[in-house]
Amino acid sequence: MTDIQLDADGQLRHLLTTEGLPRALITQILDTAESFVPEVGSPPKKVPLLRGKTVFNLFFENSTRTRTTFELAAKRLSADVINMDVATSSRTKGEDDLDTLYTLQAMGADIFAVRHPDNGAAARFAANAAPHVAIINAGDGSHAHPTQGLLDVFTIRRHRPDFENLRVAIVGDVAHSRVAHSTIHALHTLGTTDIRVVGPSRFLPEDAEALGVRATTNTAEGLDQADIVMGLRIQRERIEGDALADVEDYHRDFGLTPANLAHASRQALIMHPGPINRGVEITGDVAYSAQSLILEQVRNGIAIRMAVMAMIAGAPASGRADNTPLAQT
Ligand code: CP
Repeated sequence: MTDIQLDADGQLRHLLTTEGLPRALITQILDTAESFVPEVGSPPKKVPLLRGKTVFNLFFENSTRTRTTFELAAKRLSADVINMDVATSSRTKGEDDLDTLYTLQAMGADIFAVRHPDNGAAARFAANAAPHVAIINAGDGSHAHPTQGLLDVFTIRRHRPDFENLRVAIVGDVAHSRVAHSTIHALHTLGTTDIRVVGPSRFLPEDAEALGVRATTNTAEGLDQADIVMGLRIQRERIEGDALADVEDYHRDFGLTPANLAHASRQALIMHPGPINRGVEITGDVAYSAQSLILEQVRNGIAIRMAVMAMIAGAPASGRADNTPLAQT
């Protein structure tokens, strides 16, 4: 999987998964993203790195954060951006997804951000894309959501840069979460070894050992002295039958509530990829508490997606003169 993501020089070609991405490359993405974060009180940076390029958002599943921040990121890089409305596209007339790809390529697409319900869909697009076209996985089934994983570790690094000594608890429906997979792989690569996944047994991954995480149904044990507590939504769209027998029991036992968070470090930072379901995996008070990074995660998604697209387009590493912001428009 990693090979198709990198070109012969080891530079980013497509972004399909964080699994196997070299540490140096992840660090380069995070450093480049850092250069795109506006100074406090300053307007967003707009740079010419993707001028003349066309980015297509091709989302076969709904999204608020990812689609919108890809659009903002592409516009801040000066690209032309097309948001395909798949629900009203010719897919409804039976067009195959790859024929949609070829059609949009013929219009001059350079980069696609692809979200799809099927595991492996982004890799299929990448394997069939034209040589000059790059595919960024914006979430495929329960497999991967690499820009979310990268924005998660970027957000963590801005507050707790000592990845080696971090205790991370990921709570909720880990088994069906593409975010959990991508964040765990990125954390591992950056040196974090103490990662616990917490939830009822049906929400714990079967491959916990292979993933290198400690799985537990005991919330007190899983959250014990955790520095980062990340909640996850129940991915009902990927679960057959009743996802949950009793929401109140689930919220009491596994929700990010003040009672459950009392087991974590007093300074624990709260994260969640969104969308949140209040009263299920988190309370509104916790989601918008002083220790919550949830909205910062959303904001950081712009810088991370700018960094990924800029690097794919062959832009120079951060800090070089031709990354100079355009005059604000
Ligand atoms: N975190 C995330 O992927 O959110 P959206 O589904 O709103 O894009």
